[in-house]
Amino acid sequence: MMDVGRHPKIKLYSYSEIDNVSGYVGNFNVRIRKKARYVDENECTACDECAKVCPITVPNAFQMGLSLRKAIYMPFPQAVPSSYILDMEHCLGNNPIACGKCYDACDKKCIDYDMQDEIVDVKVGAVIVATGMDVYDPTRLDDYGYTRFENVITSMEFERLICSEGPTGGHFIRPTDHKTPKTIGFIQCVGSRTQDPERGNPYCSNICCMNTVKDSLLLKDHYPDVEVKVFYMDIRAFGKGFEDLFMRSKEKGVMYIRGIPGEIEEDPQTKNLRLMVENTTTRQIEEHELDMVVLSVGVIPRRDNEVVKKLFSLSTTSDGFLMESHPKLKPVDAPTGGVFFAGCAEFPKDVKDSVTQASAAAARAGVLLSAGKIKIEAITAVVDEEACKLCGICARVCPFNAIIFDKKSKTPAKVIEAACKGCGTCSAECPFDAITMQHFTDRQMYAQIEAILSDKPMDKIVTFACNWCSYAGADLAGLSRLQFPHNARIIRTMCSGRVKDKFVLHAFKHGAPVVLVSGCHFADCHYIDANRWTQKRVWKLWDKLEKLGIRPERLQLEWVSAAEGKKWAEVMNAVEEIRKTVTKEEVEHTIKVIREAEKPKKPKAKKEPAAATT
Ligand code: FES
Repeated sequence: MMDVGRHPKIKLYSYSEIDNVSGYVGNFNVRIRKKARYVDENECTACDECAKVCPITVPNAFQMGLSLRKAIYMPFPQAVPSSYILDMEHCLGNNPIACGKCYDACDKKCIDYDMQDEIVDVKVGAVIVATGMDVYDPTRLDDYGYTRFENVITSMEFERLICSEGPTGGHFIRPTDHKTPKTIGFIQCVGSRTQDPERGNPYCSNICCMNTVKDSLLLKDHYPDVEVKVFYMDIRAFGKGFEDLFMRSKEKGVMYIRGIPGEIEEDPQTKNLRLMVENTTTRQIEEHELDMVVLSVGVIPRRDNEVVKKLFSLSTTSDGFLMESHPKLKPVDAPTGGVFFAGCAEFPKDVKDSVTQASAAAARAGVLLSAGKIKIEAITAVVDEEACKLCGICARVCPFNAIIFDKKSKTPAKVIEAACKGCGTCSAECPFDAITMQHFTDRQMYAQIEAILSDKPMDKIVTFACNWCSYAGADLAGLSRLQFPHNARIIRTMCSGRVKDKFVLHAFKHGAPVVLVSGCHFADCHYIDANRWTQKRVWKLWDKLEKLGIRPERLQLEWVSAAEGKKWAEVMNAVEEIRKTVTKEEVEHTIKVIREAEKPKKPKAKKEPAAATT
């Protein structure tokens, strides 16, 4: 961090937040709010005289609340810049100044009670999101007694207690009697790998096993006589050198017991902890008495991920981490051009993986910036300026903010080609057909529908499948030699968001017995949340079909991923069953009512004013 702070080409904005981001790849405008620290960071020498006289004490968040800090404080020992911050929320007040002791104690007069937040606008070509993660809060897990028993702590609190910069100067002590514990138990997977949402998250947090192995070795190095027991489901020591570390911990006498305890009880006199566990290796129910228990808590996405997501038009996976552009081929790229990920913002990872990803992200950003120009796919949206009626819907639905529209300027919508990814949602939502998707034009789509239904339409299943998931799922079903109806005719679109309601009605008008719209699962859509618009469109279509007297189940909507070949086969079998129920009369009626509905409405005749009577 020191190197970053001193680097001539790096401008570090600490204690700052991003208020707004506009622009696109190569041309981002970022508005940064430098929050007022009330201390001149260039003049402060971190002498600590101000904190010595400050009368306010509050729990120190960096030390996990295990020690206190003053209202004027250094956020953490190696903070860059090495400057104090005045926490105005807890200060006795600056308007009028209620105490002023810190100001009097500061020789350099760095304290400025009138300091205001500063707004800085910067232009950048690329952005790396490295916002990190939070840790799981075990207060809800009452059976482990984290809120009831002082000697039950989390792995984060353990880190502070064993750290030489921690509240106890690195002396590991039991909170109730401040003595070194003789027996310590670690419970693994707290808040991770559970299907019960009340008990945590379904994913593996990746770092907890090796963190516990490291902690157990630290304990054994500091206190060789301490008895350490680790309760686990399975130990995941898959990284380079990790298995060796695990074996070393075993050789040092750490006991690994395969089984997760059900409940912890406390002896009110001794404050010792008792837990029962089924040892799945010996198949015995065991009781263990311990001086302390450490809950090895999992990792969760940053609580303000939603803010970051909105600022950069990103999307998140179902577990709340930011989603990469492609898990295998573009693992550090965000779906928004010019934005990259590093570290746990994208998924839990250890230091080595975070450094690897950060290096990759920096390299990707470097390549982008040094090229000076970018290559884009030819599949982009084009606005027909004459047909545009200035409704602004396209700009509202674009997942990438790639359409500029300002109602006041009364100028047609404009597509930023560099930012457009070609999902086609704008084109599908435009009520005036004013947007063409290059290579997936309306004419091309209609021509495919008509070609499919030109011969024996009653036998066909008209299927729209998105390129990335459903089309690949269909491919997999074929490659896996799965049995499913052969009468499906697939029309590929880049995203299900491209499927206009008019395409579906066009298929029904040309005699389609059933239509299937298929895309990626939510959070898997390669165009952030474009498939949410697909869903809304299909919901509206179902209502419309019902009003026209057409059975809504003749239009099916399914989410199938690239790995779900089996699901694709099942969906196709189910749709085929629906197709078999559709009669010729039903199709003829459908064609008739859609044609009727499409006829331009006659303007209502104006009522003649009643003749005046005398
Ligand atoms: Fe598959 Fe959007 S890419 S639904």
